[in-house]
Amino acid sequence: MNLDLSFKLNFTMSLAKEAGEILMYHYGNLKNIRQKSRVDLVSEADLASEKLIVEKIQSQFPTHDIMTEEQDFKSKGSDWTWVIDPLDGTTNYVHSLPIFAVSIGLKYKSETVIGVVYNPAVDAMYHAVIDKGAFRNGDEIHVSKTKKLGDSFLVTGFAYDHNDEWELSFDLFRDIYRKSQGIRRLGAAALDLCFVAQGRFDGFFEINLFPWDITAGDLILREAGGFTSGWKGENLPASGKKVLATNGIIQDEILDIFQNEKYTLFTNY
Ligand code: IPD
Ligand code: CA
Ligand code: CA
Repeated sequence: MNLDLSFKLNFTMSLAKEAGEILMYHYGNLKNIRQKSRVDLVSEADLASEKLIVEKIQSQFPTHDIMTEEQDFKSKGSDWTWVIDPLDGTTNYVHSLPIFAVSIGLKYKSETVIGVVYNPAVDAMYHAVIDKGAFRNGDEIHVSKTKKLGDSFLVTGFAYDHNDEWELSFDLFRDIYRKSQGIRRLGAAALDLCFVAQGRFDGFFEINLFPWDITAGDLILREAGGFTSGWKGENLPASGKKVLATNGIIQDEILDIFQNEKYTLFTNY
């Protein structure tokens, strides 16, 4: 595929940086926090970051489609789609925990071609272009070489919707915890994927995410040599409904756990 992505990559990284500045401007100083549900929050920072990103994309690429967390856009039928989480990790952000990010992915047809995840609190910029590797602040990154689940350090998350799957995910958490070296819950899925990409963790799993949580991070992780899939081992669902992302080596060991009869609720889809 020859799509001349360098201009688009520079544009995306500057945009993530500018959106990050907006987030840092409001950080620790929020005046307006709305509860989409008791646990699902949105602040003026999410909205201001999204407004900036959307306006700049619309002015630079007026024919492109846009998918964001906080607004619905009508499809223009473009081959290009921007998939945006203007603030991933809102709950952390609201509580002044510096684990949050701006996540921007660009798809050409169904393929993600650019992924940018930026955490302004520690000035960490992750980026990837299809077939060109993955980077953190310009340095190439790679997944870990950990060979077995028993030696693995993992990260996960829990969705806002406290449904039956949510209940069961705590059983799964215990099962996998027991078989690994430990699991963390950091609260920003886009960063979780980047941390697997750079080898801090060996794997990440979560259910009921959304496209904006995973589009950019999925490309960054795969370009760093990792592997992503659904929970039956199929191609990663673009919806984010089921996400397993690892260094590739421990993927099958975790998939085997999901196949256990007591977890059919997770694999009946
Ligand atoms: C959330 C974070 C969190 C994950 C939730 C997401 P938000 O995104 O990525 O880690 O567990 O499922 O919804 O709401 O902070 O953008
Ligand atoms: Ca998110
Ligand atoms: Ca968000």
